Amino acid sequence: MTSYKELGLVNTKALFEKAMKGGYAVPAYNFNNMEQMQAIIQACVETKSPVILQVSSGARKYANQNLLKNMAKGAVEYAHELGYDIPIVLHLDHGDTFELCVDCIETGFSSVMIDGSSKSYDENVELTRKVVEYAHSRKDYVTVEGELGVLAGVEDDVASEHSHYTQPEEVEDFVKKTGVDSLAISIGTSHGRCKFTPDQCTRTPDGILVPPPLRFDILEEIEKKLPGFPIVLHGSSSVPIEYVKIIENFGGKLSDSVGIPEEQLRKASKSAVCKINIDSDGRLAMTAIIRKVFAEKPEEFDPRKYLGPARDELKKMYIHKNKDVLGSAGQA
Ligand code: G3H
Ligand code: 13P
Ligand code: ZN
Repeated sequence: MTSYKELGLVNTKALFEKAMKGGYAVPAYNFNNMEQMQAIIQACVETKSPVILQVSSGARKYANQNLLKNMAKGAVEYAHELGYDIPIVLHLDHGDTFELCVDCIETGFSSVMIDGSSKSYDENVELTRKVVEYAHSRKDYVTVEGELGVLAGVEDDVASEHSHYTQPEEVEDFVKKTGVDSLAISIGTSHGRCKFTPDQCTRTPDGILVPPPLRFDILEEIEKKLPGFPIVLHGSSSVPIEYVKIIENFGGKLSDSVGIPEEQLRKASKSAVCKINIDSDGRLAMTAIIRKVFAEKPEEFDPRKYLGPARDELKKMYIHKNKDVLGSAGQA
């Protein structure tokens, strides 16, 4: 059994309290390999930003739980070596069972998400409550994120009345019954690189898709029901057109890509949204640079020669997010 404190990690409690007061969001960047971890830590140290290193169950299987745990410990030491001790959280993204959450907590995670959003309301409450009871009973208090409302998928009609936006009238009861430390909500974001179908969007004169705005009205209702309570936004990649274009120019196929505009994330960061999840943008940045190197230097076969530039681009992108989108720069 490993306590996250032994690894030098922190939970989300104090980070979210500070983010709520300061009007910014803490970045939650997914990682599953060394270059992603290096880029995240370099960017967050350079911008003096707190950070949530986020691991999905798929990433955990891919990378191995022991390696990830030790990479998180290494991340703390790496930040120190780079010259600034930023607060680092190791968080389970989209945990789907009690057992998985327990396993992560016992191997050094400082925070877990239990995602019961696809279950009935009562089942979601019961599962989330059980995870919270276990996580909070630890002497080092592991924080728990729950979710209410289903993130729109590309197949869903987000403009329809039958969408799965979070219902503001449920949030107070959910938080009270479960005891969660933060709540992920659905206001129009979704996972992946196609957040809306083309017919849900308008187009600029040069054919770029413009998505419908997030439902800030629902967010405001939720804030009224839960004053000062930390809210989480998943599916918050902006899907930068520059990366999509590089990928397509060098042989990739990413038609109909559309993300959440940065101005909307900036606005959300100033509200009760204290954590913003970004994964797809990192995948796009890495893929764009790797494809470019492969196309321009066909003789290259040393992984450091394409993973290195991909890591540099990732770092640049995370610095931009911290400084210009989430507002977390200078808050560590
Ligand atoms: O929310 C999902 C994250 O982007 C993780 O995705 O399950 O493919 O690792 P993954
Ligand atoms: P994106 O696919 O928009 O990056 O969302 C990631 C996420 O929500 C991870 O939980
Ligand atoms: Zn997510």
